[in-house]
Amino acid sequence: IKSNFINQKLAGKKVIVTAGGTKEAIDPVRYIGNRSSGKMGLAMAQVARDLGADVTLITTIKTNITGIKLIEIQTADQLMTTLKEYFPTTDVLVMAAAVADFKPVNVADQKIKKNDDEDIFTIKLTKNPDILKTIAATKTNQFVVGFAAETQNLLANAEKKLNSKNANVILANNVASAGAGFGVDTNKITLLQKNQAPDTWPLMSKIDVAKKFWDFYLANKL
Ligand code: CTP
Ligand code: CA
Repeated sequence: IKSNFINQKLAGKKVIVTAGGTKEAIDPVRYIGNRSSGKMGLAMAQVARDLGADVTLITTIKTNITGIKLIEIQTADQLMTTLKEYFPTTDVLVMAAAVADFKPVNVADQKIKKNDDEDIFTIKLTKNPDILKTIAATKTNQFVVGFAAETQNLLANAEKKLNSKNANVILANNVASAGAGFGVDTNKITLLQKNQAPDTWPLMSKIDVAKKFWDFYLANKL
């Protein structure tokens, strides 16, 4: 049991974190996924918990983290449904999930069989809704954090997301650079806010990124 009340700076705050890549079903045994490990979101949830927040983690990743409410989902549609239920009563949303941009148009009921005379197999995809943009458009007093996963033109691309996603801040990262990409324990973040110069943080552990983010939140938005 934690008794360090002095450090419970997020006590009384409700925080939702989404984490991990969505898995878009093709058939009962296959899905379309991405390389997100969920580690950045998990760190955000863990540090918020340690600061005394009431944390709900909505994730595609199996974890045995304690002291937070865990909701396991697979697809972008399930993430959207869950957020519609939980977002109205939260104080903060950290949208770290790597939402698949597209999902199969049709999900086969049975395992798809390969066919002897066809060497090419085509899956038709349709766009997923932009969950962050949709959910954040309904915000009243919530503080919303989006991510921007880029492999090039980081600032320009992240700036566009800041202007289109209805989020209070965007945490941009180059997911193809060494030490900052998917799956590793470190990250290099540039924080973007409207009417402020971008703030680039040094390469650090994802836990330290989360600590720095919550310090930023406490310094700016309580
Ligand atoms: N996001 C979302 N719903 C989607 C796609 C993305 O909520 N369908 C969220 C992510 O969780 C992240 C932010 O939007 O917080 C940015 O995701 P990213 O993939 O970097 O940007 P996109 O808007 O999808 O644009 P693109 O992938 O083309 O760069
Ligand atoms: Ca995307």
